[in-house]
Amino acid sequence: MTETLDIKITKTTHSRLAETDFDNLPFGKTFSDHMFVADYADGEWKNLQVIPYGEIGLSPAISALHYGQAFFEGLKAYKHADGKVTIFRPDKNAIRFNKSAERLCMPQLPEEIFLQSMAAVVDIDRDWVPSKDNHALYIRPFMFATDPYLGVTPSATYKYMVIAGPVGPYFSKTLRVKIETHYTRAAEGGMGFAKAAGNYGSSMLPARKATEEGFDQLIWTDAKEHKYIEEMGAANAMFVLDGTLVTAEAKDTILDGVTRDTVIALAKEWGIPVETRKVSVAEIIEGAKNGKLTDAFGAGTAATIASVGSISLDGEEYFLNDPKTREFSQKVLKTLDAIKYGNAADTHGWNYLVG
Ligand code: PLP
Ligand code: COI
Repeated sequence: MTETLDIKITKTTHSRLAETDFDNLPFGKTFSDHMFVADYADGEWKNLQVIPYGEIGLSPAISALHYGQAFFEGLKAYKHADGKVTIFRPDKNAIRFNKSAERLCMPQLPEEIFLQSMAAVVDIDRDWVPSKDNHALYIRPFMFATDPYLGVTPSATYKYMVIAGPVGPYFSKTLRVKIETHYTRAAEGGMGFAKAAGNYGSSMLPARKATEEGFDQLIWTDAKEHKYIEEMGAANAMFVLDGTLVTAEAKDTILDGVTRDTVIALAKEWGIPVETRKVSVAEIIEGAKNGKLTDAFGAGTAATIASVGSISLDGEEYFLNDPKTREFSQKVLKTLDAIKYGNAADTHGWNYLVG
């Protein structure tokens, strides 16, 4: 049995629930009534608390702001028809959280703090979990360095926090994507496998340029040659090529996505061949030209399964089949939703019950 942690709870006296428009939920702009906060000092996590969501005071010298000792996770909680609330595969995020912490020279967080902190926020804010199709409570756990010290050295103190908010789908349309052959997201030996804040900071300029050119997303390629596909924006890039599900292998330049892992598990169960390997830009473009590329999508917690409508390389745009006709991703979407929202048996034990 895991120990139940001592989490001090202070409830808000002014819930914002009634004034929240659940029919209009742009991603990441609405936050629920409570948040979790814990402090790391003297080699241990302490002051575990749920408090009203709000601003926190910090020294302007904290090293997270200057040297980027900061990282996060992203998960979703779903409401079932019977009122149950579950979080999808948080044990996987707990492992990845600590891989990110290790790479950034930050302290490990015990799995029970990770799980129980999220459960505490989701439970107290369970009325914030939307009941609408394709909607969920997005959960954002994160850790950052808090030493007020400008020396370039790992901080001795940290904060771990969890905030959450109701969301609809991150992408509302089929994506026009561009293969990026100049900028790089991650290099071997770097921190691409970590959910480091800096990875997202460095993606903003290339992403902004792509948007200015009319694209919705970038496909990142390898740092050395820009010949192999790595990821798609903040999601894993997955393809069905000649009947096989192909995606980049999870290595140090790739975020080992929970959605990616889930899609692979389902494909294997359905008897679809799966290859996790180097995926060349050339074979994807060739498949787009000769029709063997029958599915292309980004897989991620925020993105869910985001269909790619066209892929552009060096100014040439290659159009793919209509996403509604794609057998594989349509089946994945339907199956995943049924499990997450409790409309199909959770035979894998992927749903973590809150409360
Ligand atoms: N790759 C990147 C860079 C991401 O930010 C995300 C989103 O979390 C993913 C992949 C997909 O990971 P997951 O399915 O665990 O959300
Ligand atoms: C997530 O899916 O949780 C992500 O990390 C995407 C986010 C950066 C918007």
